[in-house]
Amino acid sequence: MSAKPAILLVDDEARFRETSGRLLKRLSYEVILAENGQAALELLSRHSIDVILLDLKMPVMGGEEFLKIMRPVYPHIPVVILTGHGSLDVAVECMTRGAYYFISKPIDLDFLVLTIEKALEKKKLEEQARQLQEETVRNLLELNTEKKRLETIIQCLANGVMVTNKELEVTLYNRALLQLLDLPEKIQKPVPLSEILTDSALFETLERIQRDENTDQDPIFQEIRVGDKILRAISVPNLEPDRHVFWTVSGTVTVLEDITAFKKLDQMKSDFVNMVAHELRSPLVSIRQLQSVLAEGLAGPLQEKQEDFVRRGIRKIDALLDLINDLLDVAKLEAGRLTRRQVSTDVGKIIEELVALTAPRAKDHGITLHFSSENLKPIIADPKNIEEIVNNLLSNAVNYSPQGGDVKISARVVGDFMEIKVSDQGIGIPPQEISKIFEKFYRVKDPKTRAVAGTGLGLSIVKGIVEAYHGSIDVESSVNAGTSFRVLLPLVKEEV
Ligand SMILES: Nc1ncnc2c1ncn2[C@@H]1O[C@H](COP(=O)(O)OP(=O)(O)OP(=O)(O)O)[C@@H](O)[C@H]1O
Ligand SMILES: [Mg+2]
Repeated sequence: MSAKPAILLVDDEARFRETSGRLLKRLSYEVILAENGQAALELLSRHSIDVILLDLKMPVMGGEEFLKIMRPVYPHIPVVILTGHGSLDVAVECMTRGAYYFISKPIDLDFLVLTIEKALEKKKLEEQARQLQEETVRNLLELNTEKKRLETIIQCLANGVMVTNKELEVTLYNRALLQLLDLPEKIQKPVPLSEILTDSALFETLERIQRDENTDQDPIFQEIRVGDKILRAISVPNLEPDRHVFWTVSGTVTVLEDITAFKKLDQMKSDFVNMVAHELRSPLVSIRQLQSVLAEGLAGPLQEKQEDFVRRGIRKIDALLDLINDLLDVAKLEAGRLTRRQVSTDVGKIIEELVALTAPRAKDHGITLHFSSENLKPIIADPKNIEEIVNNLLSNAVNYSPQGGDVKISARVVGDFMEIKVSDQGIGIPPQEISKIFEKFYRVKDPKTRAVAGTGLGLSIVKGIVEAYHGSIDVESSVNAGTSFRVLLPLVKEEV
C-alpha cells in the first residue's frame, strides 16, 4: 500500500462526484473518479486501488454489474456501496456478493471517512493474514523437501542408521540397518527395540542413554556381533527442543558399521607378525648363544678387537630379541593371553632385582636409581607382567634422561591398589604428545627421542597389561624437567 491510500469513487452524479472527491483529497486520500462501472473497470486495470466507493444506479454499467465483474478479478479490494432512495434491497444483495459495507445517501462525511478507514484496515489485515499463510505454506514445503532429502540420504547410506523414541521403539531405520541386523526387507514402525536387536550390550547402552537424560553425552562406541558379522556401533542421544527451548533426550540414534573385513585383516596381520617373530626368535637365540660362547673365550681365546666385535654383535642381537619379544607380547595381549598366571607376587622384590640389573647401565648415563617402598603387600598377578611394567618404565626413565640425574621408583599400597611410580629428570614429554605415547609404535618426533633406539612398543604393552588387570596408568611431565609415570593395580583377592 502506498503512503496515500487510493480511492476509486464511481458515481454518475457529476456534482456529487466532484464535491466528494475534493473533500476526500483534502483528507489526504488519492482519489480517482469514474462516472460508471465501465469506466471504473478500465481505471482499475491501470491503477492500484485500495477502496472502491460505488454508486448503484448508473448508465452504461450499474454498480451491481460492476461488482459482479470486478470481484473475481480483484477479490481483495473492499467495496463500499453508496445507496440512494429505493436501492436498499440491491445494496443488501451486493453485500451478500462480497461488498464490504453500504452507506445511504445523503452521505455523512465523517461516517464515510470512518468506513473508508475501517475498509483500509480490513484490507491491511487480510493482506497480512495472506502473507502469513503463504509463508507458512512455503515453510512447510521447504521442511518437507528437507525431510525428503534427508530420508533419501539416510536410505542411501552404506552404514546402518537406527533411531529410537522415548519408549525405546525404533521409529526410523534404513535399508543398510536391516541387512546388517539380518532382518526381513520391511518391518513395521514403530517396532520395540527388543524385537530387532539381539545384542544385550548395545540394548543396555541405548537404555542408559535414554535414562541418563544428559544432553551432553559423548558418543558411545562398541563392537557387537550379529551372526558372522562384527559391527561397530556408535550411539548418541537424540535431542529435541522442549517448550522452554531447552534440549531434552527424546530417544537415541545409532550408526552401525560392518567392520568384519577390518577385523579379519587385523587378525591376519597379528598372526603374520606373530609367526615371523617366532620364526626369527629361535635362530637368533642360537646365534646369541654361539656369540656368547665366542665372547667368553670358550671356543678359544680371542684377540681384544675380535672380542669387542663379538660383544657389539651380541648387543645388536639383544636389541633384536627385545623387539621380537615386544612384538610377541603385543600379539599375546591382543589375544588376551598375556596375563595367564595369577599368583601371589612380591612387587618389592621384583623392583629391587630390576633396579640392581639396570643400575650399571644407569650409572653409565650418570643416573642414580632410588627405590623406596611403603607397607607393601603381595599382589595377585603374573610376576612376568609386573616385571614387564617396571622394566619398561625404568628403561624409559634411563633412556630419556641423557643429562643424568635421579630416577626414583617407589611402590606402596594405597587403599585397594598397589601404586608403582617411576619419576625421572629427563627430557620430558610435550603436552600434546602425552595422549599418543601409549599407542603402538608411537615415538615422540624429536631429535632427543631419536637418539635413543626404540620401537615405540614398550608403553603400549605396559598399558595393555595394566588394563588387563583393570588398573590405570597416568603421566605427569614437563619438557626438559622430567616425567613421572604412576601405575595403579588392584590388589586382586586370592580367590579371584
Ligand atoms: N620417561 C620418558 N621421558 C620422556 N619421554 C618418554 C618417556 N617414556 C616414554 N617417552 C616417550 O614415549 C615414547 C613411547 O615410549 P615406549 O616405551 O612405548 O617406546 P620406546 O621407548 O620408543 O621404544 P621401546 O618399544 O623400545 O620401549 C618414546 O618414544 C618417548 O618419545
Ligand atoms: Mg620404551
